[in-house]
Amino acid sequence: MSAEETNGRGQWKSTLGFILAASGSAIGLGNIVFFPARAYEFGGGAFYLPYFIALFLVGIPIMILEFGLGHQTRKAFPLALGTIAGKPGEFGGWWAILNATVITMYYVTILAWVVGMLFGSLGQLWEPTTDLPAFEPVNPSVYENPGGFFYNMLSSYKALLFVLFVWVANAAIVWRGARSIESAVRIFVPLMWLFMIILIIRGLTLENGSHGVMFLFNPNFEVMKDIKVWQGAFSQIFFTLSLGFGIMCAYASYLPKRSDVTNNALMTSCMNCGFEYIAGLAIFSLLFAFALVPQASTLSMMFFVVPKGIANFPAGAEFFGILFFVLLLLAGLSSSVSLVEAITSSIIDKFGAKRSTVVVAVTILGCVGSMFFAIPTVIDKGLNATGTVGLTLLDLMDHWVFYYGLMMAGLMQCLIIGWGYGAKKLRENINKRSKFRLPSWIDWQWKLVIPIILAAILIYSAVDEKGMYGANSPVEFGKALSWTCFFVWIVGIAIIAAVLTLIPGKKE
Ligand code: TRP
Repeated sequence: MSAEETNGRGQWKSTLGFILAASGSAIGLGNIVFFPARAYEFGGGAFYLPYFIALFLVGIPIMILEFGLGHQTRKAFPLALGTIAGKPGEFGGWWAILNATVITMYYVTILAWVVGMLFGSLGQLWEPTTDLPAFEPVNPSVYENPGGFFYNMLSSYKALLFVLFVWVANAAIVWRGARSIESAVRIFVPLMWLFMIILIIRGLTLENGSHGVMFLFNPNFEVMKDIKVWQGAFSQIFFTLSLGFGIMCAYASYLPKRSDVTNNALMTSCMNCGFEYIAGLAIFSLLFAFALVPQASTLSMMFFVVPKGIANFPAGAEFFGILFFVLLLLAGLSSSVSLVEAITSSIIDKFGAKRSTVVVAVTILGCVGSMFFAIPTVIDKGLNATGTVGLTLLDLMDHWVFYYGLMMAGLMQCLIIGWGYGAKKLRENINKRSKFRLPSWIDWQWKLVIPIILAAILIYSAVDEKGMYGANSPVEFGKALSWTCFFVWIVGIAIIAAVLTLIPGKKE
């Protein structure tokens, strides 16, 4: 393939390579832990309807939009939006990419803890221990393994080493762009499916395991009156499909010209939600078999509740434990590389810098950020025995970026592309090469329906916002910290985005 043909930016070797990469990005911690945690929080079956409505109404159309944008402009997000809407568009693109950078930082931190647990799974994790963590436990009896092991790791500086390890792995995978990513996902993605299927079979064949399935499918229409369920469903769809921050735009910019965008978007969405669905079955069967109750934080699901269930398996706890954490690591890595690639390609496209230099710079910067989330003193000392991990900083940044950043970015791109570029033009271009022809009403979905829905949820959430930590905050200065994070997020990111937009880029 000549450099000219690929625009000098590299290209996926095959459609399959692209689908594997895009679904590898989509399938991640969001599918295996955040989804079951959300579904549990909102009453199991009650979550499904809002979830599917969000998928069809917003998820799939935005996936097509992002794929279409990358495929047509052949540029990463900031410059792609810049070609449509000039400097304001480019600013929006950088704003989204910087939000993605924050997610990347703490996503890698969580993956680093997964690596720590994986090491633990090789033995120690399943042994009974009375070893108490460095934090002062409210109720020491709660700290049996695997919870005790996790707390010990959190409160040690070893976690920083694991952060370094995960960043080096990310850098190695994005080192040669689409080519090296494709090689990695060809191995990672099939393995993820295999491991998940093994876990499901184990879960469903546990005594009472199938009760979990009932919980997931038993609808409860009462809960749907609660707008929080809808807010949860929409943000989950954005997160799980890797939408909003231009990640899919960057991946689609490496597609050959003759690609069927609609078909690829449908396949990626279906594979992702299919995986999420079966992950839900595996996790819930385990919870019901051992009468485990997931508590407050999402991370407690992945670091205590599920491992506790696995520790209770009649046989092979070590085997299944390793399987679970390797699965999390593979799924997480194939997602984090998409974030790193989106950041890297945005910088390369704008400044024309050498890929290797940019990868090294992004890795160093990201690594410092991820380490900051993992420093034991930054993690809340008020860790308590309810299973709530007091990850104050991580929770707070997650709150702003996850609930607001994703949907704000989604809203922005619908408006810029729908009105600026022209929904009709985008649709007609996509339809030229797609077997399934997009109907004309999708124009209005992009231009009006989705923006109205997203704006409504955002406005409702903002009005209802009390900060993450209200009056009875478990953290002393919780409220102040919450608002500080808010200002750092909203002002800090805007300033950096403005600077990046205004610096002149390479000459075309
Ligand atoms: N989709 C991934 C998951 O489910 C996470 C992820 C990767 C993501 N890239 C993203 C989330 C971009 C938001 C935006 O774990």
